[in-house]
Amino acid sequence: MNLTEQTVDKGTTKKKDSISETGFATKAIHAAQVPDPTTGAISLPIYQTTTYVQQAVGVNKGFTYSRSGNPTVQVLEENLGILEKGVGGACFGTGMAAISAAFALLSQGDHAIISNVVYGGTPRLCNMILSRYGIKFSYVDSGDAEAVRNAIRKETKMIFVETPANPTLKLTDIKAISEVKGEAKLVVDNTFLTPALQVPIDLGADITLHSTTKFIEGHNTTVGGAIITKTKKDLDDIKYIQNAMGLIQSPFNAWLTIRGLKTLEVRMKKHCENAQIIAEYLEGHPKVTKVLYPGLDSFPQASIARRQHLRGHGGLLAFELKGGVKSGLKFASSISLISLAENLGAVESMVTHPATMTHAAMSKKARLEAGITDGLIRLSVGLEDVDDLIFDLDQAIKKSTS
Ligand SMILES: Cc1ncc(COP(=O)(O)O)c(C=O)c1O
Repeated sequence: MNLTEQTVDKGTTKKKDSISETGFATKAIHAAQVPDPTTGAISLPIYQTTTYVQQAVGVNKGFTYSRSGNPTVQVLEENLGILEKGVGGACFGTGMAAISAAFALLSQGDHAIISNVVYGGTPRLCNMILSRYGIKFSYVDSGDAEAVRNAIRKETKMIFVETPANPTLKLTDIKAISEVKGEAKLVVDNTFLTPALQVPIDLGADITLHSTTKFIEGHNTTVGGAIITKTKKDLDDIKYIQNAMGLIQSPFNAWLTIRGLKTLEVRMKKHCENAQIIAEYLEGHPKVTKVLYPGLDSFPQASIARRQHLRGHGGLLAFELKGGVKSGLKFASSISLISLAENLGAVESMVTHPATMTHAAMSKKARLEAGITDGLIRLSVGLEDVDDLIFDLDQAIKKSTS
């Protein structure tokens, strides 16, 4: 018996049947979750077990071995599947493990198109590891659907985009790409917005993926990843790859991620509010030369943002100071309340210098082509009081540009 069957056994079918009618926050808190049938515990147990006792050979309760399935992880997978409007999900130990599983759908001789602005770990995986297995990659400006159409070959099996992209916030019009993709699978890394602000499958994507390390878990306490698919066939293939390659999430990290998900909607709302105020403050600051935030009218793709994003534009922004690299590096060591750290999407505000940190694996040429200049600073706006954040930014800008 798996958890879904238990739900029905305990007479909670009504709640489960009607969950599809509920709003996003209700789904995030309740979907795929019922009180523990044994004790009534409202909080899901952490099923910290390797294996499951079977009633007879081939007779079990839906679980056999925790690499193939675990009840705690399964709840997270089902919940994310519902929030992202797919048929279901698979959760992984890191976002990179999820990305690896998605690319493992490809075979020798296949070709994939990747946005030319993505998290640095994605091209590192493709160029340094997967290319050794005879898979070919092209990096294309996915903000330009015509450029993507022109890059498609008969061997093109996948188009991988990240929108907004790390770290320049460059957007891809998901619907426009879905209209030119032909037979290729469209995979969208939805880490920066989460389903609270953008639902790629609704816009024509075949697969959505996440580094749940970021906003989904949201508290800087886990590393994790997730894939949600539109079709049962893709989910079956991903689950097969997951079991064969051993790319799984642990029950404890899944449990922390489930807890994080319950407040996703309110957190994203506050991330958006704080980021909008800070983007406007930075745009008006005489020592700031450039601000990139999709909620600003000056953002080059503001019209896509308005069309594609649901309730706001997320908690990430990027900016450059007068004095370029020198000021940027000084700024990174002058912040006090805000942390200099590699992560993003948590309650704590964090700053990164992409050229030397998150995107250091890219060549300088590829970085500059992607707009990741040496002076660019990425700010992940957290949930602190916005006045305190502005106070910290102000003092650090003064120190670094004087
Ligand atoms: C957009 C995006 N996708 C994927 C990843 C990789 O995720 P993880 O660090 O959880 O492996 C990151 C990491 O920063 C990211 O920013």
